[in-house]
Amino acid sequence: MSIDVDYDLRIPNNVGLAEDARLRKALESWHPGYLDWWKRMGPDGFQDALVYLRTAVTVDPRGWAKFDYVRMPGYRWGILLAPAVEDRTVPCGIHRGKPAWQEVPGEYRALLRRLIVIQGDTEPASVEQQRYLGKTAPSLYDMRNLFQVNVEEGRHLWAMVYLLQRYFGRDGREESEELLRRQSGDVDKPRILGAFNEETPDWLSFFFFTFFTDRDGRMQLGALAESGFDPLSRTCRFMLTEEAFHMFVGESGITRILEATCVAMQAAGIEDPYDVEAVRNLGVIDLPLIQRKANLHYSLTLDLFGSEISTNAATAFNAGLKGRFQESKIEDDHRLVGDSYPVLGLVDGRFGTKEVPALTALNARLRDDFITNCERGIDRFNKIIAARGVEFQMRLPHVAFNRQIGQFASVSITPAGEVIPEESWRNSRSGFLPTADDASFIRELMRPEASGFASWIAPPKSGIDNRPGDFEYVKLVA
Ligand SMILES: [Fe+2]
Ligand SMILES: [Fe+2]
Repeated sequence: MSIDVDYDLRIPNNVGLAEDARLRKALESWHPGYLDWWKRMGPDGFQDALVYLRTAVTVDPRGWAKFDYVRMPGYRWGILLAPAVEDRTVPCGIHRGKPAWQEVPGEYRALLRRLIVIQGDTEPASVEQQRYLGKTAPSLYDMRNLFQVNVEEGRHLWAMVYLLQRYFGRDGREESEELLRRQSGDVDKPRILGAFNEETPDWLSFFFFTFFTDRDGRMQLGALAESGFDPLSRTCRFMLTEEAFHMFVGESGITRILEATCVAMQAAGIEDPYDVEAVRNLGVIDLPLIQRKANLHYSLTLDLFGSEISTNAATAFNAGLKGRFQESKIEDDHRLVGDSYPVLGLVDGRFGTKEVPALTALNARLRDDFITNCERGIDRFNKIIAARGVEFQMRLPHVAFNRQIGQFASVSITPAGEVIPEESWRNSRSGFLPTADDASFIRELMRPEASGFASWIAPPKSGIDNRPGDFEYVKLVA
């Protein structure tokens, strides 16, 4: 199988689609439905705009991207797998050390399909959640980045649909259709996971979504990249290269917002970050509101890891279908039989850790890895704030704060980790999470920008593809 991508077919690919007539037909018959979905549910009002997008032309890590102006419906979505690793073996569980599967192992068919569908469902969901953001983009640079993320999430859907169509026959074809039928936030046919039915109403949310939720995506893809089912592993490995950009968009976006706020505060001589009105009058976003948005998106994202104790997670690991994050770099027996893992819990109103069988604690473990990773990002944000001499520190809220899933779903915890009565929690909510007043302030603030950069965000240090920050990344059509 070659590394170069075949661009002759309508569906660019490096999976030998030209030689597989049956699969090609199946994908070609799914393609119009996909385009229809993209036009209905993709970026609203920008389907004819020319966007300076990156398209993968090779999966070679040294140069897989080519930039050009593209109308999004004409983007070359394709099926791209990372190069095969020779003699790859199942990295974990009871089959560890056996050759990785190139076809679906019959006994795990249903479980594997479920894993692929759940991952696949998140990809179009985020496009749906972000579809109105183009209109309030703070610059053409940001608009272009939003659309780049969107087309890549679309490609991730293609990646999962390829696996379903190629390896799961009729069931796979049906699941592929369902992926286009469910819709983020729909009452009757919602997306599978809660966070993907929430709104991404504005750019502050978008940046926190890409900071937190795409980071979860990276952890999940990292775990699936360790799958003993080799086509899934190779698919996810290539997706990870794209996911890195999504996280960059989130982190750099928040960094630039913090920068704009702190610089404006400094220039106006405002020392108190809680002097919200004065800060907002400068046309920037106050730090406490940024913290509330972080609280919201962080807690929503933590729910994506599922219940702390999970037999499904144990089954997938044991079967070798899903590893831990960076499984091959962990030094243990990769079977975990008899091992234990400390899981945080609440006993008699106090937090404490309890050792539980490591196999059942895999969700908790992946979540812990995620939290550590987020903490590093928050530290970087705090350096920006400190460098501007503003006395304020961003914080990740406590893991038990505002949860809907798992053992903390039924308790009322403050961002600082205090257990309080439900009523007090409700009364303090406006200090913890974004309010209606916050939303209307943001709506007023985030208006379509005719040119340059909005007041509430600093320009980027450098542009995309060595272009300047104010390059015409999107050519709008009247
Ligand atoms: Fe994705
Ligand atoms: Fe993503």
